[in-house]
Order: sequence, then structure tokens, then C-alpha cells
Amino acid sequence: MPRKQSIHGAWTNRWIFILAATGSAVGLGNIWKFPYIAGENGGGAFVLVYLFCILLVGIPIMMSEVLIGRRGRQSPINSMRETAYEAGHHGRWAGVGWMGALAGFFIFSFYSVVAGWVLYYIAGMGVGKFVDLGSEQAGQIFNGLLADPETLLIWHTLFVVIVMMVIAGGVNKGLERATRVLMPMLFVLLFVLLAYSISSGYFSQGWDFMFHFDPSELSWNAVLVALGHAFFTLSLGMGSIMAYGSYMGKKDSIGGTVLAIAALDTLVALVAGLAIFPIVFANQLDPGAGPGLMFITLPVAFGQMPGGQVFGFLFFLMVGFAAWTSAISLMEPGAAWLVETLGMSRVRAALLLGVVVWALGILALSSFNITADLTLLGMTAFDFLDFLTANIMLPLGGLFIAIFAGWYLTREMTEDELSLRSALIYHAWRLVIRYVSPLAVAVIFALNLYQKLA
Ligand code: PHE
Ligand code: NA
Repeated sequence: MPRKQSIHGAWTNRWIFILAATGSAVGLGNIWKFPYIAGENGGGAFVLVYLFCILLVGIPIMMSEVLIGRRGRQSPINSMRETAYEAGHHGRWAGVGWMGALAGFFIFSFYSVVAGWVLYYIAGMGVGKFVDLGSEQAGQIFNGLLADPETLLIWHTLFVVIVMMVIAGGVNKGLERATRVLMPMLFVLLFVLLAYSISSGYFSQGWDFMFHFDPSELSWNAVLVALGHAFFTLSLGMGSIMAYGSYMGKKDSIGGTVLAIAALDTLVALVAGLAIFPIVFANQLDPGAGPGLMFITLPVAFGQMPGGQVFGFLFFLMVGFAAWTSAISLMEPGAAWLVETLGMSRVRAALLLGVVVWALGILALSSFNITADLTLLGMTAFDFLDFLTANIMLPLGGLFIAIFAGWYLTREMTEDELSLRSALIYHAWRLVIRYVSPLAVAVIFALNLYQKLA
């Protein structure tokens, strides 16, 4: 018999689950990463492939994660094992949870560094560091920050601490409370940003760049990046959504909830792109500028617009909130496991995980300065951690989750958890999760490997 409730607690209602999972999904992936990888990969065609990946791979796999989590009612590692047993299979499926936990560490380590940049920019906007700035000076400020390991360390540390504090509070006094405060503010700020982006004057150029379809821009590598980003942006393939699903009410509908989360996440990414690219073109900046895109273009724009000081501050505050709620979800699977399996208190679990990701983060932040020459496969530690997690570990984790949900869980289990009102929709989900999602991931992997070896 499936358990009624997780020992860690439960979301107060369905809306809290939607908000919390949206908090996990909406993060640096949407506002920082999506615009810059779309820029590096040519815009429109990339965006289209990304949208397909969200639809055919992301949404069905998110439904699977939530259903596994809610059925298992434990941390991802233990829920995978438990649901495998329930379906009459081997407990080694817990390995998928383990790989996810490792991916979570790796992601956190570079995520926290970028979040640290955001905190620095909140402070910088607050004290007027970017008033009347040219793009060259903005570039200098950003590169100066990257070159300064001590400053990076301070902000990285601060970010790890605020995440630890929430994790230490547990599901209701930590995660849920943060969600209730931060998410409404995030939406209000996003709305302000959207209005600003539409009034910026270069909106149509930004629109063209994002939605102009030119298939010649596309490579198999770009397709892999789009697929990897679909996982990253929806927090899939590593257990975050599974952990959040384990606190979900038994009666709440999984399908509709997941659709809402995915739609919100996609909306935020598109709005971020539509806000950033017009400014890029207005200032003759390079859309392929890479990770610095948001940190160089936006301060320039804010520095020149009336009231930009306040808007810039609010913007980076919003990004900070988004990063915070996402990082919480990166740590939750590990924390839940430590509490369940080793009997640790939440506080100890948070401290232990915090120290580990803090230390790993030092590796990521030093790769912009002291250890810049240290490369693996031509990538710095920062780039490698990003590549390894988003493009390899998350799609691989998602592939296993799809196979598990589609082929190993019993039909009765998935039908019971999804309890979709129409049999047609259940069939569609099952068809996609058994064939379409796994094949898409496998084919994209295979073609990339082939191209790299050939
Ligand atoms: N989805 C988050 C973002 O877009 C990142 C994330 C990935 C969070 C994986 C949790 C798990 O920023
Ligand atoms: Na996201």
C-alpha cells in the first residue's frame, strides 16, 4: 500500500505545490541561461527545438517524476527504490536517485556562483554603481568581478547560507514559507519587467531574433543543448521535482498541475529573452556573448533609462529570488535523504550539504581566475560542470525515469496516480513516455556522439 504522507510534511494545498515547483523551475535557467544559449545557438531555430523538447520530453517526464515522488512519499533515492519494489522490480532503481543527487551537487556548485554574481549586482544597483554606464564599462565591471576570487567567494558564501537556512526549516517552516513570500514578489517583478521590455523601443528586433526560424543555424550540438536545457529549466532528471511531488496531496491532479508549471517556466524564459535581446541590439552588443550577456547588457540599459536605478535593483532582486527558490529545490532531495536514512536533523543535514556545495563552488568560481588554465575537454571547471549536468546527467536521468515510469511501473500504479479524467490523455501520456521521450533523448545523444567521434 502506498504511504499516505511523507515524514517530512506536506504542502498545505495544491497551489502551494504549484508555486513551490514553479519556484524550483523558474530560476537562473530562464533569465540568465536561456537568453545566452539561445544567443549562442542562433536564436529562432534553437528556440523552436527547445519548445518541442519541453512539450514532448519535459512535460511527460515531469508528470512521471511527480507521480513517482507522490507514490513513494520519500526522498528520490528511496522513492525510486520503494516504487520499484511495489511494481515487483529490483531496488537498484535507487541508482537513478543517486545519480540525481550527484547532479544536484554539481549544479548547485556553479549555480551558487552565478547567484553570487546576482547578489553582487543587487548591491551594485542599490549603491548606484551602474548609473550612466557604457557597454564597455559594464563589461569591465563584470570582468573585474570574475577576476576577483575574494569578492566572488563572499557572495557565493552568502548565497549558500540563505539556502541552508530555508532547508534547515523543513518543508512547512522552510520551503513553504519561502515560497509564500518569494513567489508572489517574483511575479509582480516579472510583470514590471515585461512592461519595460515592451516599451523599450527595440522590441521587434528582439522578437525577430527569438522567433525567426532559420534551420541552417541548427547543429546537432545545438539540439543537444536545447534538450539539456529543457531538463535544466524544468528541474528534471535529478529528483527536485520528485522530492516536491512527494509532499503533494493525494487528490490533486498531476497533469494539470504540471502543465501550469511548465507553462509558467516557458513564459518566464521567453519574457527574459524578449527583455534582453532588444537591449543587446539597441547597444550593438553581441547576442552570442555567453554567460556575461545578462550581466553586461542589462546594467547598460538600466543605467541609461529614467528610473533605471530602481528598475535595475528590482530586476536583480527578482533574479535573486528566482535563483534562491531553485537552489532550495536542488538541496531538498539530499536533505530529505539524510533525514530519512541517516536520521539527521534538518539543521544538520542543511549544514552538511551546505559545506559540500560551498566547497565545490570554490572550484567553479576559481575557474574564472586562479584556475582558469585548468581545463577538461577544453572546458574550465565552471563550463564543465554546466555541460556535464545539463547536457549529460539530466537527460540521462530523465531517460531512466521515462523508462521506469513507462515500462517498469505497473499500469495500475501510473493510472492510479495520474487519475486523468480522460482515458485518451492517459494513453497519450503512456505512449509518449514509453516511446517518444526515451527515443528523442537516445537519438540526440547518439547523433552527438557520432558527430564528435566522426
Ligand atoms: N530549473 C532551475 C532553473 O531554471 C535550475 C534547476 C535545475 C533547479 C535542476 C533544480 C534542479 O534555473
Ligand atoms: Na527554469
